[in-house]
Amino acid sequence: MMASIILTINNKIYGPLDIDPEITMLEFLHEYLNLTGTKFGCGQGICSACVIIQDNEDGTSEIHKTCITNALGFNGKTLRTIEGHAERDDKGEIISLHPVQESLIKGFAFQCGWCTSGFTNHTIALIEELKRNPIPVEEIEEKIEETLGEHVCRCTGYVKYYAAVKEAILNTEGATR
Ligand code: FES
Ligand code: FES
Repeated sequence: MMASIILTINNKIYGPLDIDPEITMLEFLHEYLNLTGTKFGCGQGICSACVIIQDNEDGTSEIHKTCITNALGFNGKTLRTIEGHAERDDKGEIISLHPVQESLIKGFAFQCGWCTSGFTNHTIALIEELKRNPIPVEEIEEKIEETLGEHVCRCTGYVKYYAAVKEAILNTEGATR
């Protein structure tokens, strides 16, 4: 038996589509929409490689691990994935990256990049939250640990990631007070 889903991802409406009601959101993104930038890491909700952003009507957003969440649970939701952060022209070619993406590249934060879409999505959501609720500069590092502490990277230490995220926060007007 199939189920119907319709949702918005990166400002584009997908659906209604008939899907297997048992599939995970990660499978839906990969197999139905060809949005393969969201990565499968542990598949058990541990590594955070697969997180995407859900935008709520009240202007807040939340992070979801797509390897352990059912696709149908996102029916009617508004989401962002790694494919949606860069600015693109009419032909879909990338004009410029999101400042967080720039910061991660500039800081040599990642190596193979498998964990990077998860780190990027979560960092973007964090910075947007900080713009709503700025924190003192001296609390940045603690906030990064608290927010990104569940993200696993198999390649690097976390030092460069955290430093690049700190840089991105410091470069964002209104994120600190
Ligand atoms: S792949 Fe989803 S948490 Fe690891
Ligand atoms: S850069 Fe390879 S897993 Fe993080």
